Amino acid sequence: MSDERILVVGGTGLVGNALVRGWTRRGKTVTAATYHCRQTAAFRQLDMQDADAVKKLIGEVAPTLVALPAANPFVDYCELHPEETRKVNVDGSINVIKAASARGARVIFFSSDYVFDGGKGDYHEDDRVNPLNEYGRQKAEVEAAIAKAGPRHLVIRTSGAYGWQWEPKNFVLQIRSKLSKGEAMTIAEGIRYNPTYTENLADIVCALADSGQGGIFHVVGGERIARIEFARAAAKAFGLDDRLIKGVPADQFKAPALRPKESSLNTAKIRAAVNVPIWGVKESLRHMVSFEPAWKEYAEKTPAEKI
Ligand SMILES: NC(=O)c1ccc[n+]([C@@H]2O[C@H](COP(=O)([O-])OP(=O)(O)OC[C@H]3O[C@@H](n4cnc5c(N)ncnc54)[C@H](OP(=O)(O)O)[C@@H]3O)[C@@H](O)[C@H]2O)c1
Repeated sequence: MSDERILVVGGTGLVGNALVRGWTRRGKTVTAATYHCRQTAAFRQLDMQDADAVKKLIGEVAPTLVALPAANPFVDYCELHPEETRKVNVDGSINVIKAASARGARVIFFSSDYVFDGGKGDYHEDDRVNPLNEYGRQKAEVEAAIAKAGPRHLVIRTSGAYGWQWEPKNFVLQIRSKLSKGEAMTIAEGIRYNPTYTENLADIVCALADSGQGGIFHVVGGERIARIEFARAAAKAFGLDDRLIKGVPADQFKAPALRPKESSLNTAKIRAAVNVPIWGVKESLRHMVSFEPAWKEYAEKTPAEKI
């Protein structure tokens, strides 16, 4: 839709900022909201836990489409603080879904491979969800709420997102940071998933939004790979010493939240839905390495120039 007005709730995040840039490149009218950081004329401040503030912002922006990548996505933190994170991840998301629906706007909610238990892998969109941890349960709950809100809305299940971001929190930037200082990195063996490069994810989601389709879609990188193999590939792509990556059996890796062992997602539905290639590991990492100067140029712009 050419007259689309888009609100991205969580526009400073890893996924949200790639979406903001993706839609801006396509000439769309985009408003981005942030919670903590970079409150400016360009990025509106919003705590989605505050239902009145959500209604007010949606009333002012009058979006036709609301992208909702905002969340507390820290899986162990969710496990240790279920009540606190539920207020953001469930109640906050539902505030946005309700306010957007009341104004006739479509919603794109970002969910996760962690709605599955990892018993089989290659999950299809209509496979039964059975989360192993609190984060996954919170995502599954919002998926159920959005299904009730109507078939026009979209749920994007993604997995292991990586790319350039202000705070280098994602797996690839952590590997790069540690290995470039000569520090070793320990990684659980036997975990398989589809790592997802956010620039490719954003292109696919923008195309899907344009197509007007609703429902659940798995939008992940085109390759199912062991986490440790992906880490080695990332190290090599950045010219770093992959021997610093050490494997540990997954059951010796102590973390508060259980994680699925095989959470790979099937991409047949999204491949049929949009005409955007889904990149594999090599192509994605090659793009990420070559994209660094463009990212730096964007990151150094004043906040008001970013949209
Ligand atoms: N990263 C992954 O590997 C991955 C995998 C599967 C699914 N997902 C899902 O994909 C989505 C995006 O993840 P991400 O990695 O991009 O997360 P992220 O980088 O941590 O970004 C989270 C965003 O949410 C905003 N936010 C947090 N609390 C908020 C609140 N109370 N009200 C309004 N905004 C709030 C943050 O704003 P500030 O920056 O201003 O604090 C930030 O813009 C999440 O739903 C996540 O669960 C991520």
